[in-house]
Order: sequence, then structure tokens, then C-alpha cells
Amino acid sequence: MPKSNLRSAAWFQGDDEVSLAHRVAFASVGFQIARDNSKPIIAIADSSSELNPCNLPLRDYIPAIRQGIIDAGGIAVLVPVMSLGEDLMKPSAMLYRNLLSMEVEEYLRSYPIDGVVLLANCDKSVPGSLMGAFSSNLPTLMFTAGARPVPIYKGKRIGTGTDLWRMWESFRTGAITKEEWADFEKCLNCGLGACNTMGTASSLAIMVETLGFMLPGTSTIPNGDSRRTSAARQTGLRIVEMVNEDLTPAKILSPSSFRNAARVMNACGGSTNTIIHLLALSGRVNGEMTLQEFERVGRSVPVLANIEPSGTEMIQDFDRAGGLFALLSQLGDLIEPGAIICTGQKIGERITQLDSDSSAIRPRSNPLKPDGAFAIVTGNIAPQGAVIKTSAASSELLKHQGRAVVFHSYEEMRTKVDDLELEVTKDSILVLSGCGAVGVPGLPEWGMIPIPKKLAAAGVTDMVRITDARMSGTSFGTCFLHVSPEGAIGGNIALIENGDLIEIDVAARSISLMVSDEVLAIRRQLWKAPKREHLRGWPALYQERVMQPDRGCDLDFLCAPTEESRRFVEPVVGRS
Ligand code: FES
Repeated sequence: MPKSNLRSAAWFQGDDEVSLAHRVAFASVGFQIARDNSKPIIAIADSSSELNPCNLPLRDYIPAIRQGIIDAGGIAVLVPVMSLGEDLMKPSAMLYRNLLSMEVEEYLRSYPIDGVVLLANCDKSVPGSLMGAFSSNLPTLMFTAGARPVPIYKGKRIGTGTDLWRMWESFRTGAITKEEWADFEKCLNCGLGACNTMGTASSLAIMVETLGFMLPGTSTIPNGDSRRTSAARQTGLRIVEMVNEDLTPAKILSPSSFRNAARVMNACGGSTNTIIHLLALSGRVNGEMTLQEFERVGRSVPVLANIEPSGTEMIQDFDRAGGLFALLSQLGDLIEPGAIICTGQKIGERITQLDSDSSAIRPRSNPLKPDGAFAIVTGNIAPQGAVIKTSAASSELLKHQGRAVVFHSYEEMRTKVDDLELEVTKDSILVLSGCGAVGVPGLPEWGMIPIPKKLAAAGVTDMVRITDARMSGTSFGTCFLHVSPEGAIGGNIALIENGDLIEIDVAARSISLMVSDEVLAIRRQLWKAPKREHLRGWPALYQERVMQPDRGCDLDFLCAPTEESRRFVEPVVGRS
């Protein structure tokens, strides 16, 4: 049943010069719009780009999405949006996530659009575009392109990122030759799509499906699989129905949806980055998901997805094992069944009881880890929290005391970490500060600090590392990340000095610098805030208004605290 009061009608109704000009603008690009148009106008927000191999295949699915929209009685309009790619954007695509969210929101505000299909795949495209759509509160579906193929190197399946980091360790310590390193490079060039591990992109796609903004069963279909083309058409069909049903984000989202997403991220051994993004998404609608809440709901959730970097398999195996809904079936009563999803159903209505006989999704009786993939620790190093992915860390290092080896910038770390004179032992704790949201800006994925060369050569594969940066979802190791507040704004991490004793105890959720408050107060008096290089443009605005990771690193004026301040203000539809 077509909706009688489309938002876009404000542009086309009437017989004045303004509505006439709007109808002519549409006619000029091939769409005949009547004064009483009842066809929902659906934006396909396309973030594909040749600068972004993860997002590039999205454009292959546009014809099917468009066809679905037309078949359902809608009008499809293609809207290019910025492409956030992890590989090439510096200092980090994360710097631009909030800008993408603003771009999407403003597109939706300023044009006659009734609903949107967000095309995203690489890490930051997913939360960035969804944050903008949440703020607009227009009916929304996301479509991702899926993972790239799994290459084989010397008979071993290669996980994107995860195995690159391992090979890099082998190369820098001389365990493999230059020729082997070059062969490995060739083998990585295996096709388009997202990382094939449980990196940030796959974790987020699963999270978006859990939140209810992707058709059930579609988040992990690999790129190029014919099921993805059919999912594209179904996405086009469904978004028109959602407009007609007025199924907006506000009607789908609830505290249950966010709690379920937090549980699923734990069960997946998902990327640490998803925590920041989930908090940011929640901040756009109700702010009810906090770091503490994420920790609370995740503690009782077993890690069931045996996918790299926490496990051994690839995202293709996860999909073959049944994907998200096979995982939900195992999670059973840990999931709140009443959360609404994009079909208009409750998520519980879609979950059927399945036995898992796959090694990619473990049965609940045989988890990879019984008590969650993450821990949030606090203490004088991180009064507002730090995150560790315990499922990809060394269990023997989760309670540890060691002397700090401090790097105050990425450049300093890169210069010194391989210096054979560096005073460091396997029990030292590596600290990298100055790399947070304000510091760089954009908190790049610098947090998996390399094991110092002399230790790596001696066979050390993991050490405790503490940083205000992030790390890639494909990374691993005993890394305490997202320390808040960060060093660049005077967080205590900036006051740590070489040789200071640090104690971490994940079971007690603590991270402590064993230095007295008096000494810290003296150091604080001597501390000087780093000079900000960006005096103009987006980076300057970002540094001025970005919040810390415990608030999702959103800009403070985008994450409004009250229903009134979150209101999406419609434009005046008059002469432009
Ligand atoms: Fe784009 Fe991993 S780098 S999805």
C-alpha cells in the first residue's frame, strides 16, 4: 500500500514555480514525477571508489538494487558519497567517519528522499553512513559487498590483515626472505571486497544485521556469490515497503537491539573498533549503550565464532556455517527476542534452533572462550576506560606487572622500536601515547605496537601494550587500546615515563600506573599540550569537537543528549 504522505511530496505538490522547477529537475534526468507523486524516492548512497578496493564492488550490485526499488513501485536515485577506505586514507579513515555521517544526513535532509539504501563495505563506511541515516530517521537499509576471496600462500589460507601482520614479523626478523615477501605480496592481490577475517568490516556488517538494518542472512555472503545479487534486489524491494510502512530507525531501534549487538560482537570475537562505533550509533539515537553497559552484557557471552584473528577460520566459513542466525541460534536465551528488525518482525521470530556441526561457529557447549571477547579496564592510566580483546590476547599476560617503555608518538615508536639498544625485555610494557582522536587526529590503527626487533628475533610473539590509538580488527595481541582520556588532552597516559611500574589485571578490570598521585601532579604541571598543526578545515573542527572513545568519538554537537536536540529539522522547501 503506497504511503499517502511521502516526505518528498513537499517538493512536488502544487502548481507554483517552485514545485514546477522540482518536477522539471527530475524529468531532466529521466524521472517523470506527478504533482501527486506516490512513488517513494529512494536514495542509493553509493560509496564505491577506485581508491577503495573494499567498496569498489558495491557498484556491481546497484542495478539489482535499483530493479528491486522499481519493481516495488519506487524511484531509485543514485547518490555518490565519500568512500572511506582503510588502505589508502591517511592518517586514518576514522578521521572522516563523522564527516561521512554528516554528508549522508545532509543529503537526506536537503533532497526529496523518502528512504535510503546505504552501500558500504570497508570499515568506516558502515558506521559513518549509518550514523547519518540514524540522525535523519528516514527508513534505512544497508547493503554490503561482502568479503574478498581467500588467497592461498604455500598451501595455507591467508586471512586479510591477520596473516599480513604475521608475515611482516617474519620478514623484519629475517625468518623469511625478500623473495618470499614479494611472492606473498602477489598472492594478496586476489580480488575485491572486505577483509576475509573477523576484521572491523565483517564484524560491523554482522552488527548492522543484528541491529536490524540489513536483510536477515545477508551480512556475510561473500562478494561475487550469486546470493548477494539476489539480496541486492530484495534490499531494493524491501526499502520501498519500509517507506510505505513508515518503518523508521526510531521504530526499529531499542535498548534491546543495542544490547543484542554487544552480545553478538562478543560471540563473534569481533573487532575492538565495533565498540567505538556501537557507542557512536547509540549516541545518535538514545545514548543508552555505554562502555559499562557493553562490558556488563558481554561478560556472560561465550565466544563462538572461530574466525581469525580470535580463531582459525575465515568469514566465508562463518557464512557457510549459517552466518549470524546460526550464531544467534547457539546464543539462544542470551539474545533478547523482542528487538525489531527491518522485516518488521521481532528478531526472535527469525531464529530457528540449529545444531552446529561446523568448526566456524562453535556450539555453546564448546566455546572458544566462555566469558566474552572483550574486557573494559579502568584505573589511573585510563579513568574513562580502555579496551582489550581478550579473545585475541595471550592469557598468561592478562595479569602482569612490568616496567614501561614509552613512545610519545608514532614516529618515535617507529624509529626506536627496532633499535637494538632499546632497553626492553619481554616483561616490559610498551606504551604509545599521543595517538588518540585529538592527537593525530583520528586515532589511527597504530595500537598493535610491533614487538621490538631484538625480542621478536629471540622468539617473543606477544607483550603487553598500552595505547590511546586503535588497532585493526584483524590485529591480535595483548593490546590495551582506546585509553581515555588520551594523551594529547592531558590524560595520564601522557605522564608515564620510561621505567615506571605498571600493573594490569584483566580479571579485576584494572590498569594501574604504580606512581603516586603526588608525583603525577608534579609531572602534570610540567606537561605541555602538544601544538595542534591543523588550524583550519575538517581536521581542525574534528579536533575541537571530537569526544573520547567512551563516547564513540562522535562530534559533541552530533551526539545530542535530548530528544529535542536530536530532532531532524526539515528544510524550507521554497526557491533555492
Ligand atoms: Fe577494507 Fe578491511 S581494509 S574491509
